[in-house]
Amino acid sequence: MATESDFLVIGSGIAGLSFALRAAEHGSVIILTKKASSESATNYAQGGIAAVISPEDSFEAHLDDTQRAGAGLCREEVVRFVVERGPEAVASLIELGIQFDQDESPSGYDLGREGGHSRRRVLHAADFTGQEIERGLLAHCEAHPRIELSANELAVDLATSPKLGLPGPARVVGAYALDAELGAVEAYQAPIVFLATGGCGKVYLYTSNPDIASGDGIAMAYRAGASIANMEFIQFHPTCLYHPEARSFLISEAVRGEGAVLRNRSGEAFMRRYHKSADLAARDIVARSIDFELKRSGDDCVYLDCTAMDPSFVRSRFPNIYARCVEYGIDMTKEPLPVVPAAHYVCGGVVTDLHGETDLRNLFAAGEVACTGLHGANRLASNSLLEGVVFARAAAEEAVRRIQVRPEKLPPMPDWDPGDATDPTEAVLVNANWDEIRRFMWNYVGIVRSDKRLARAARRIHILHNEIREYYWNFKLTPDLVELRNLATVAELIIACAQARRESRGLHYTLDHPKPAPGPARDTLLRLD
Ligand code: FAD
Ligand code: SIN
Repeated sequence: MATESDFLVIGSGIAGLSFALRAAEHGSVIILTKKASSESATNYAQGGIAAVISPEDSFEAHLDDTQRAGAGLCREEVVRFVVERGPEAVASLIELGIQFDQDESPSGYDLGREGGHSRRRVLHAADFTGQEIERGLLAHCEAHPRIELSANELAVDLATSPKLGLPGPARVVGAYALDAELGAVEAYQAPIVFLATGGCGKVYLYTSNPDIASGDGIAMAYRAGASIANMEFIQFHPTCLYHPEARSFLISEAVRGEGAVLRNRSGEAFMRRYHKSADLAARDIVARSIDFELKRSGDDCVYLDCTAMDPSFVRSRFPNIYARCVEYGIDMTKEPLPVVPAAHYVCGGVVTDLHGETDLRNLFAAGEVACTGLHGANRLASNSLLEGVVFARAAAEEAVRRIQVRPEKLPPMPDWDPGDATDPTEAVLVNANWDEIRRFMWNYVGIVRSDKRLARAARRIHILHNEIREYYWNFKLTPDLVELRNLATVAELIIACAQARRESRGLHYTLDHPKPAPGPARDTLLRLD
């Protein structure tokens, strides 16, 4: 029998937890999360959360910076919506006891600076910002009597009304989830489902993202019939530590914001050659410039030089980064850090409106899984945590109104049908496919693309996806198999969007169409027929 609640939340990062706290004021909430409760991209965020707090800043300036980064594809009403709700969203976090670094400035907060921002507007907790936000939100959710948080529950697929034999337009009625410890698939029924599963960095060989980022929510929503947009806009963070044991540990953009300089092996501060804002140009420009430098020189990495900065400032402002680098034998106050770009953020995702609702009724989404129109073709640094809170709050408001004004009585959801599935497939097959996808996505659908590379990637993903589909239905589900299937779907969506965009814009740069197309910019939309 299905477990019922008023609201079903999938994911426990900033978006899922923010939604849960608001919705729980009006009904019961179940949060499913696939690993430990705090395991999320949110927990690793370093730089901070952007909002107009300083009297020297303005909504217009934040709007302009966001739109300039977005390369003509941001939706202005959405940018305005998020920017203007920024201060109250940040205040809601502070009310929960989340602590951002303070100082004597008129705003009272030590505001950081990052690439593409014309002002200091990034609230942070040293360089542990995400951990502090996750801690605060989680503590409140865990203590809330109407919130039940289920860890190690991996959502496998959404359930829609035709499954219950209900007439009318399709709407979401719940989800199936795999209990990773028991190996059993359980049904969760709710009139509202909130998708907050984060991004898909694991589709690339090198990524700053934690392992949870396998694009599950995007794949599930696509299979259920929701529209997906702009998946070609994958943001590569310019500076991940280049070290065999570091697994793409991020070196925050805030380090450049405070004065660090990128240099090539001969010591040249090369960013001046590429853009007038040099090291503080928007992220797509910096990542692409590093890529050009590496291809030109044949070197493995470039260097982030912090040695001219005051060492005690570096240690107190970036304690997390400093300590991690020391673990790897590098003292960043004395020697430059070897860095490379890595996949960091997906600007596309499940299309949502100003209430955070998708075009599949009763399915809401926010955070990195969603494509709201805020980021356009390139996200401005530190705008994603902000977007996650603002849209989670807006979605909760609408979802609560929905169940209060027009509650629908649903017949019970059927149990999961495992068909003739036998014991799990050989792990070696899953690992080999997983590895192959991530490698060709890095090589063919990376920072610089071409028609030929994309066509090759499309051929590979087509073959692999068919292979995965085949054994997906023949074998009992395991978390790895579920994630592999989602990864393949997401790779397919990224490639399809990239092939459809026959221009270079923001994060999508292709050698065959190196300029933006004339006329108004358009979204790339995909929907399963
Ligand atoms: P997440 O925080 O990623 O949470 C997703 C949740 O969904 C997790 O709990 C996960 O386990 C769960 N989940 C996923 N799939 C399933 C499934 N199938 N079933 C059940 N649960 C599932 N942005 C900023 O604005 N400022 C920063 O300083 C910043 N720094 C960053 C640093 C790093 C290293 C990284 C990786 C990202 C950074 N970002 C930053 C981006 C930002 O952290 C993310 O975009 C944001 O935290 C996403 O929040 P979210 O709630 O959408 O998803
Ligand atoms: C960083 O600290 O550089 C990451 C900020 C972001 O991704 O917004």
